[in-house]
Order: sequence, then C-alpha cells, then structure tokens
Amino acid sequence: MLRTILSKPARRSLPTSVRFPQPLFRARCVSTVANHVIDINGREVSIPTGLFINNEFVPAIGGNTFAVEDPATGKEVIQIQEGREEDVDVAVKVARKTFESEVWANSNPAWRGELLNKLADLMQRDSEELVAIEMLDTGKTYAQASTLDVPGSIGTLRYYGGWADKVLGLTSFNIPKTFAYTRREPIGVCGQIIPWNFPLMMFIWKIAPALATGNTVVIKSAEATPLSALKVCELIKEAGFPAGTVNLVSGYGKTVGNAIANHMDVDKVAFTGSTTTGRMILKSSAQSNLKKVTLELGGKSPNIIFPDADIEKAVEWSAWGINMNFGQTCHAGTRIYVHEDIYDEFLAAYTKRMASIKVGDNFAADTQQGPQNSRMQFDKILGYIEIGKKEGATVHLGGKVAKTGKEGGYYIEPTIFTDVKPEMKIMKEEIFGPVVAISKFSDEAEVLALANDTTYGLAAAVHTKDYERALRMTNGLKAGTAWVNMYNFVHWSIPFGGYKESGIGRECGEAALENYTETKAVYFNMGLPAPR
Ligand code: NAI
Ligand code: MG
Repeated sequence: MLRTILSKPARRSLPTSVRFPQPLFRARCVSTVANHVIDINGREVSIPTGLFINNEFVPAIGGNTFAVEDPATGKEVIQIQEGREEDVDVAVKVARKTFESEVWANSNPAWRGELLNKLADLMQRDSEELVAIEMLDTGKTYAQASTLDVPGSIGTLRYYGGWADKVLGLTSFNIPKTFAYTRREPIGVCGQIIPWNFPLMMFIWKIAPALATGNTVVIKSAEATPLSALKVCELIKEAGFPAGTVNLVSGYGKTVGNAIANHMDVDKVAFTGSTTTGRMILKSSAQSNLKKVTLELGGKSPNIIFPDADIEKAVEWSAWGINMNFGQTCHAGTRIYVHEDIYDEFLAAYTKRMASIKVGDNFAADTQQGPQNSRMQFDKILGYIEIGKKEGATVHLGGKVAKTGKEGGYYIEPTIFTDVKPEMKIMKEEIFGPVVAISKFSDEAEVLALANDTTYGLAAAVHTKDYERALRMTNGLKAGTAWVNMYNFVHWSIPFGGYKESGIGRECGEAALENYTETKAVYFNMGLPAPR
C-alpha cells in the first residue's frame, strides 16, 4: 500500500498572484501555495496546503509549516502551512470586510441556501476523495467514513441550506398602541474551533448554520487532522461563496485557537473539544469582548441494560457504542450498567462480540477498528488502562497494544474492565478510546443514581422493552441525548449538546440557528403618549 508523497508537481496549480481587496493585505499575499498530490491507497489526491483566506490558499505570514501524519503508520504524509496570531488577524479582517460587504450583508437567504446545496453537490461529486482523505488523516475505516462522516456532512449542508430562507421573526399587536416585531440578524464574524475525531463533520456542523444565517467564519481545524477542511475550502470556492465568507487558519490551539478565542473583533466562538480547553475559551471570552460562546465538550456516558431487553440487540448497540470511531466519540457509551439477573449472560455475549472486532490497517477491507487518531491519544488511552489496573479493576478483555503486523501505527485492543467502582478514575474521566467499564445494578433507582453520578451529561441510553420504564429513565437521565434500544445515533436535524460540564448550547437542528443569530426587537409607537 502506497501512502508516500509523490515527487510529481502539483496537478492543480493555483494562480501565482492574488490581489487582496485592500492594500493592507497586498503586502503579504503576493503568492498562493500550490496543492500537493498525495497517493492514498492507490488514489492520487490533490490537497491544498495553504491557509484559506479570502478564497485563496496563501502562505502563513511566519513561513512555518507543520507535519500531518498517518496514524496507521505514524509517518509524515504532508507538510501544510501553519497559521499563527497574525494570520488570524488577517482572516478576521477579511471576514469582517465580507460580513459588511454589499455581496454578503443583506444577501438573499435563498441564495445562501443554494450555495450550501451547491457545496453539498460538490462534496457528493468528490465523496470518494473526501472519504480517502478522512481515512488517511484520522485512521477511520472505509465503512465508517463512507457511511457517517461524508454523508453526515452532506446531509447537514442540505438541511441548513433548506433553513436559510426560513429564519423568521415574530410580530406582536398584543401591546396596546404599539406594534412590535423581531428580526433575526447574523451575529457577525464567527470563530470556530474544531477537534480531530470528526474533522469533516465538525467543520460542516460549524460552518453550515453560520453561513445559512449570513455570518462569516474564521475556522481552525485540529492540528492532527487538517486535510479534509482544506479540501472542502477548495470546494467552497468552486461553489461560488464570496471571498471571505469562510476563512480557514490551520494551526495549533495555543496560537491560532487562543487568538480566535481572545480576538476583540470576533463576535462569537463555537468550540468542540475537551472540557479543559472549553473552560479556557469561556474565560477568554470573559476577558476579551464577551463574545457569544457555545461549547460541545466531553462525556462519560452511561449505557443501561435492563433484564427485559433484547440481549442480542443490546449487545450489538453497546458494541457500536464504543466501536464508533474506536471510542474517540464524545458521546461514546463508556459505562455499561447491566442488571444483575442478566449480567453473566450479557457479559459473555458482549465479550464475544468485542473480541470479534478486527483491529488493523484502516485501509484493509476487513478492518473494523483502525488506529487511534494520534500518538497523543494512543498514549493517553494506554495510560488510562494502566490506571484502571492500579485502581483494582479487572481487565476482562484486551488491555494491550493490538498486534496487527503493521509497524508504527496506534492500534489498541478493544478493552473491557469489570470489577469497577464509581470512584475510580476510569469511571469518572473521559478515556476517548476503545475501553468500556461494565458493572452490575439491581434496581432502577440505583442505576439512575449511578448513571447521573458524573460531572458530564452528554448522552445516555437504556435498553428495555418496557415503555413506561424507558420514559421514566429518559426523563431522569441528566443528559442532552438519551437513546432507547440504540446507541450512538445522532442526526443533524435534532439538537445535540450537553448538560453540566459537557457543554453550553445545542448544535444541529433548528437550535443551532439560535447560536448564529441575534434577535432584535423593534417597537413602533401607534399612538402611545410619552409617560410623564
Ligand atoms: P483539545 O480540546 O485541546 O482540542 C480541540 C481543539 O481545540 C483543537 O483544534 C485544538 O487545537 C484546540 N485548542 C487546544 N488548546 C486551545 C486553546 N488554548 N485555545 C483555543 N483552542 C485550543 O483536545 P485534545 O488535546 O485534542 O484532546 C484531549 C482530549 O479531549 C481527548 O482525549 C478527549 O478526551 C477530549 N476531546 C473531546 C472531543 C469531543 O468531541 N468532545 C474532541 C476532541 C477531544
Ligand atoms: Mg492525522
């Protein structure tokens, strides 16, 4: 399998000089950065490597680049431009200018919807290429990237494309001698910071509602997975979005992310990632211009199996609860609670199912679990497995680096801990890997208390055929998403977000439109005398 950078010249070279709209930008942006052609499993893919500012791929001002690696081998595949604070500054100025420009301010919402649909068409056209890029950059399998990441992103674009001309205000004749109405206005320049677990989908979840409602965007991809966002920026230009509507600054959190979060001319910041970084974003907002903040953070979600559940199906969904993206999913079902009457039966069937998961090179057709995303994540997961052992939990399955015959990749065996106690770190903290903990319960009240005994509140599931119990439980669970007889199912048309330390606000569905609009109330005097 070839994953090497080819020494061929770029296939699609971009114009060599770009003129920015203002002299301010002309000084730096005298040239664009050419695409690199890389071979992904026999497919030649042309990838832009510059920062995407004002619809051009440009070099970083500081002249730095950073390496992108393939988690299946741990080897570098490409170097891309690394933005810093000064690049964020330029991107924000461009985004501001476009936000206020004739072409975007007061633009026809139906046209914005068409642009989003056009982008969806182009992503559909290039979907196999996007799947390949996402697989190379993240370690995802073909099955997952081609059924979740890419179609989920396209579906999200079409959904918000449909919303663009349907965001309306209220009218009120209910106040005597007054007429009042509300307008939903875009917030302005939106800073968006995304993680590495679903790089393409998070990019689209962020930009789609922002653009539908008429904002402009300065977005930072995760340093571990910058490629699909770069590719989509190429398509954003092709779709006909005006220059400056989406600006992508690839780079690190401490530089680019921090600059976005603290920028005085960014009106809103949307973040997905760790709770630790989420706190910093909120603090940055408080210390800068009180930009609006939405946060989608970590989780430690419970998955509860009652004795009347269809055990076979519960086993399948619970395996998917952790196998989706190999545990690197914020709503992963990491704490499984099984009723004592079926504990042994469930554990045996679940262990058999988890042991059957084929771990290996994510480009191999029969692989069901690829490498973890990065060295950092790999080390973190193995570290938690050691902590679990030291805390006295039993490694019931796995617990080691997986032997795949592939050198240098980040492979970990599907791992089950038993004999766990609520106070253990592995029961409290987000591991973000293929590691679950299974424990026993005896009644509904007990398991509800155990399930809610967490600082997080992103998701939860119950498996039961008793609909009254399902309702009681889903009412009682403190989580933004609750599933009955399923797990890890999220749709772009339904709000998604967290209770407690799992976040602030909701993405997806109509709810996300709130994040990207200000409501203005307008009163007309219809004969009301001034008070004296
Ligand atoms: P992170 O929260 O540091 O990274 C997420 C994004 O924030 C990246 O784009 C990163 O560059 C950026 N960032 C980092 N520091 C920043 C700062 N000071 N200011 C602004 N932006 C900043 O998460 P990381 O280190 O990649 O992963 C650590 C753990 O976080 C994972 O093991 C997992 O437990 C959790 N996580 C949760 C995610 C979720 O979907 N809720 C996604 C990614 C990570
Ligand atoms: Mg990578």
